Amino acid sequence: MLAVAILAAGKGTRMKSDLPKVLQDLAGKSLIERVIDTAEQLNPDRILLIVGYKSDLVRTALQDKIAANPKIEFVEQAEQLGTGHAIQQLLEPLADFSGDLVVLTGDSPLLRSTTLHELVTIHRDRQVPATVLTAILPDPTGYGRVFCDDQNQIERIIEHRDCTPEQRQNQRVSSGMYCYNWPELAAVLPKLSTNNDQKEYYLTEVFDYLSPVLAVDVADYEESFGINDRVQLSHAYGVLQERTKTKWLRAGVTMLMPETISIDETVEIEPNAIIEPQTHLRGSTRIASGAHIGPGSMIVDSTIAAGARVQFSVITNSKVGTNCRVGPYAHLRDQTVIGDHCRIGNFVELKQAKIGQKTNAAHLSYIGNAKLGDKVNIGAGTITANYDGFQKHETIIGDRAKTGSNTVLVAPVTLGNNVNVGAGSVVTEDVEPNALVIGRARQVVRPDYYDQSGRKRTKP
Ligand code: UD1
Ligand code: CA
Repeated sequence: MLAVAILAAGKGTRMKSDLPKVLQDLAGKSLIERVIDTAEQLNPDRILLIVGYKSDLVRTALQDKIAANPKIEFVEQAEQLGTGHAIQQLLEPLADFSGDLVVLTGDSPLLRSTTLHELVTIHRDRQVPATVLTAILPDPTGYGRVFCDDQNQIERIIEHRDCTPEQRQNQRVSSGMYCYNWPELAAVLPKLSTNNDQKEYYLTEVFDYLSPVLAVDVADYEESFGINDRVQLSHAYGVLQERTKTKWLRAGVTMLMPETISIDETVEIEPNAIIEPQTHLRGSTRIASGAHIGPGSMIVDSTIAAGARVQFSVITNSKVGTNCRVGPYAHLRDQTVIGDHCRIGNFVELKQAKIGQKTNAAHLSYIGNAKLGDKVNIGAGTITANYDGFQKHETIIGDRAKTGSNTVLVAPVTLGNNVNVGAGSVVTEDVEPNALVIGRARQVVRPDYYDQSGRKRTKP
C-alpha cells in the first residue's frame, strides 16, 4: 500500500501575496496542481492534502481535481506549527494504514514522476524506515543541509537558519520530499520538539530517531527546487520553459533564439515547423509541419496548418488553413476560421469570421461576424459594421466578390457571388449576384470656383 501526503497548509509569507503559496500560478497551473499531477503518476492508494491557511480557497481551486480523483482527501492543519506538526495530523486518518508514505511539499513543482518512482523503488528494495530525496546544489542557501555517514546514511538534517557557518558550506540539501515506512514514522512523530530557531515542529527532526535513513541524490538538481518567493517562481518558469523547448528542438522543430520564445507545455508542434524570436505559443495551440511562425507573434488556443506563415500577429482561438500568409500586424480572434491559401495582411482584424479558400484581406480591415466565400478580395479599409449598439449582425460575402477601398458593409447584409462594390460605398441592403454596387454621393465639380490667386470668386 502506498499513500502520498502533500504539505500545503503554509501561508507562504515570502511570496508577499494574499493567496496561499501553493495556489501561485506557474505557467497555467498552480504549484499544488503540479505536485498532485506528479503524485498521481505513482498511482497511490491515497493522496492526502494537508491544508490550513485559507484552506477554503485551496479546496475551491482544486474542486475539478478532487471530482476527477476520489483518492484525494483533505486533512486540516488548523494551526501551522511546522512541517512535523503537519505530518502529525496524519496520525488519525492513517491510523489503520501500514504501508509506505511519500511526503511531498506543495511548493516543489519541478519534481519529475520518474524521480519519484525511483525514490519509492529504492526505498522498498532496501526496506529502510526512511529515504530522503537529496540534491547537491550550487547555491544551497535556505535549504536544510543533509549530513551523512560514510555509508551514505543520513545522520541529521539541519535547517539553514540553525546551521553554523561551517555547516552551511555543505551543499547537500534535503528536497523536503521523502518516502517513509509509515508505522515507523508514526511511532516517532509524537517525539518532535520545537527546539530550533523558528520554534516549530520540524519533520526533519525524525531523523534523530530513525535509522538507517538513505539519501538519494536527484541527478537533475533543479527538480529539488522549493518555491518560496517570486524570484524562485520566475526561475521555476524558466526551468519549465527550458524543458519544453528542449523537447521540441529534439523533436525536429526549428527555433531561432529560443531564449526569446515561450511555449506552454500544452502546445503541440510538428517537426519542421519554424518558430522565430519573440514568439509565444499558449494553451491548446497546434502548429503543423512546415508552418513558419514569427518573429513577434502570440498564438493562443489556435491551430496553424501546414506551410502557413504568420508574422508579427496575434491569433486567439482560431484556425489558419494551409499555406496562408498572416501579418504583419494581423489580429485573428474568437472562432475565426480561414481556409487554405488566404492572405490576411497588415492591420486586419478578424473576429468570428469564416473565410473560404484563396480569399484576401490584405490591408486595414475589420471583418467581424462574417462568412466569406472563396477567392474574395477585400479592399483596403473595408469594414463590416456589425454592431447596432445592441446586437451583433452577420455579413455574408459570396465567392469571387470584391469590395473597393473604404467600403462599409452595414450588417445584416449579403453580397452575392461576383458582386463588385465601388470604392467608398456604404452598403446597407443585400446585393444580388453578379451586380456592381455603388453606394455613395456622386462627385460634384464646380469649374472656376476660385480665381487665379486661389481666392473664392464672388459672383461670375
Ligand atoms: C523545508 C524543509 C527543508 C527543505 C526544504 C526544501 C523542514 C523543517 N524544512 O524548508 O529541510 O530543504 O523544505 O524545499 O521541513 N507547511 C505546512 N504546515 C506547516 C508548515 C509548512 O503544511 O505548518 C508546508 C508549506 O505549505 C510548504 C511546505 O510545508 O508547502 C514546506 O514549508 P516551507 O516553509 O516552505 O519549508 P522550507 O523552509 O522551504
Ligand atoms: Ca519551501
